[in-house]
Amino acid sequence: MCGIVGAIAQRDIVPVLVEGLRRLEYRGYDSAGIAVLNGSGALKRVRTVGKVQILQDAIDGSPTHGPIGIAHTRWATHGVPSERNAHPHISDDGLAIVHNGIIENHEALRAELSASGYTFTSDTDTEVIAHRIHHHLKKGGTLLEAVGHTVAELEGAYALAVVSESDPERIILAREGCPVVIGLGKNENFVASDIAALLPQTRTFVFLEEGDVAEVTRTSVRITDRSGKPVERKIHESELSADAADKGQYAHFMLKEIHEQPRAVADTLQERVANGRLLEAAFGPAATEVFAKTEAVHIIACGTSYHAGFVARYLIEQLANIPCSVEIASEFRYRSPVVPRNTLFVTISQSGETADTLAALRLAKQAGYLSSLAICNVPESSLVRESELVMLTRAGPEIGVASTKAFTTQIAALGLLVVALAKSHGATPEQERTLVTRLVELPGIIEKTLALDPIIQDLAKRFVEKHHALFLGRGTMYPIAMEGSLKLKEISYIHAEAYAAGELKHGPLALVDDDMPVIAVAPNTDLLEKLKSNLMEVKARGGELIVFADPESGMKSSDGVTVITMPKHVSYIQAPVVYTIPLQMLSYHVATARGTDVDKPRNLAKSVTVE
Ligand code: F6R
Repeated sequence: MCGIVGAIAQRDIVPVLVEGLRRLEYRGYDSAGIAVLNGSGALKRVRTVGKVQILQDAIDGSPTHGPIGIAHTRWATHGVPSERNAHPHISDDGLAIVHNGIIENHEALRAELSASGYTFTSDTDTEVIAHRIHHHLKKGGTLLEAVGHTVAELEGAYALAVVSESDPERIILAREGCPVVIGLGKNENFVASDIAALLPQTRTFVFLEEGDVAEVTRTSVRITDRSGKPVERKIHESELSADAADKGQYAHFMLKEIHEQPRAVADTLQERVANGRLLEAAFGPAATEVFAKTEAVHIIACGTSYHAGFVARYLIEQLANIPCSVEIASEFRYRSPVVPRNTLFVTISQSGETADTLAALRLAKQAGYLSSLAICNVPESSLVRESELVMLTRAGPEIGVASTKAFTTQIAALGLLVVALAKSHGATPEQERTLVTRLVELPGIIEKTLALDPIIQDLAKRFVEKHHALFLGRGTMYPIAMEGSLKLKEISYIHAEAYAAGELKHGPLALVDDDMPVIAVAPNTDLLEKLKSNLMEVKARGGELIVFADPESGMKSSDGVTVITMPKHVSYIQAPVVYTIPLQMLSYHVATARGTDVDKPRNLAKSVTVE
């Protein structure tokens, strides 16, 4: 997704802007640009297609310096990736803007502006905003007022930052539907769409809320809310260190993040369980009351986070005996939900800024749910701030676009939710102890599973020339198969599909031949024998079977069947996390063998802040 960085200081801020853009690269982008007001207030803009390094080379070739500026990485929505569509966009009299989001009424505004003489040099919705601000500025008033008038006319989502030759001592910001944060420094201030961009400069942040407009100078920050009333927003101190986003000894962030999972899951459980008990502090005292009243659970999320929710559905119904449904946020937000009495609304999100998930939460607030719980990895995110109850997943920054440690920590956090709900619905202390003990064992079992890496790397070679793959599982392993298939397709670009194994004979079996690898996840659960029969259906059609199986499954490698033995005694609540690990490693090694950009797969973005 697009990224914004801005700075106002007494020093040359170009290195700050470029470093900020580099730190946002993981979000996914196709072009980058910078606009700087030099010491005498004249605007200079540099834009390039491709990596931030290409922008840096262009800046080196055309020296650009100044104490105030804005910068952007663009992920194309309106208009192809090209220099003319890259941000910043400029209107007359040296007014420059960077924008994340989508303006839905841009066509009407563009027609009006064209009629009044503005010419457009790009296909973007953003250029419309630049001209609109200029149009208001011409009528008199300050840059802040002109931005305020403009955002009142916009429909859609935006985070924007504006500088102007006419008022060169400030950056104006606005937020509606896309995150933007102000970083506070000493006699200098910064702005960004993500705190990761600013961590080398400051750890002190102010988050704008929906509808806010802000004026940032070197020494002050002034924020007004949607109605134009001055407001104070809370100051947050981030605990993240500037090197949290460093890949260290690993070839890719994704590989580092796969190997961080024992620690990440342990951190997610830490101080939330002790002596076989779930502590009240895990979800907070308000949650205990909510859980006692909860008669149903409704989970909403997107992508990988949706798969975590799908796992939780099985666990909540089986272990807490509470009805649970799970749904994709982009579908939920456009229907009229009928909410059963006392239903807890749960959102799951790594970033906490996914536009569809946030919109779903906002809809849920009007729909009569009992309460809202966010399971999220980013403490400062919109989702966390807008939810009544919160469980942070503590995975640490996840930079690889393909989610790994965020997913397994979500399942660990959902495991805690299962215990909390089971407890409030009659589970005995002994049952609580068993579940908590199984969760606490997870980091050790993940560690053992990671030791399968050389075998999986070898296995990955068989996929290099493949075009399709099928993933199978039953029960909680069905969403794990879905996650395995998503991982493979997003980073290796091999088409992959996941099926509940019992569905095989209702259609997908027709695809199976000796060129179609079929990957199955087979822990020792009640459904193992059923799964084995389904796998025989594949074998009988000459399919190439790869099974990650429990040592006591009785499955053995034979002609056309490769069985990879997983750690023993993996229990029902542990299996979703443990059986995810080999699928992550498989997709990683297939992707590296195929030479794709593992951390930044084509067309994808880390944080999907637009609809
Ligand atoms: C896939 C992946 C995405 C995200 C999805 C939701 O590896 O990362 O499918 O899971 O875009 O993002 P969050 O969890 O930030 O809401």
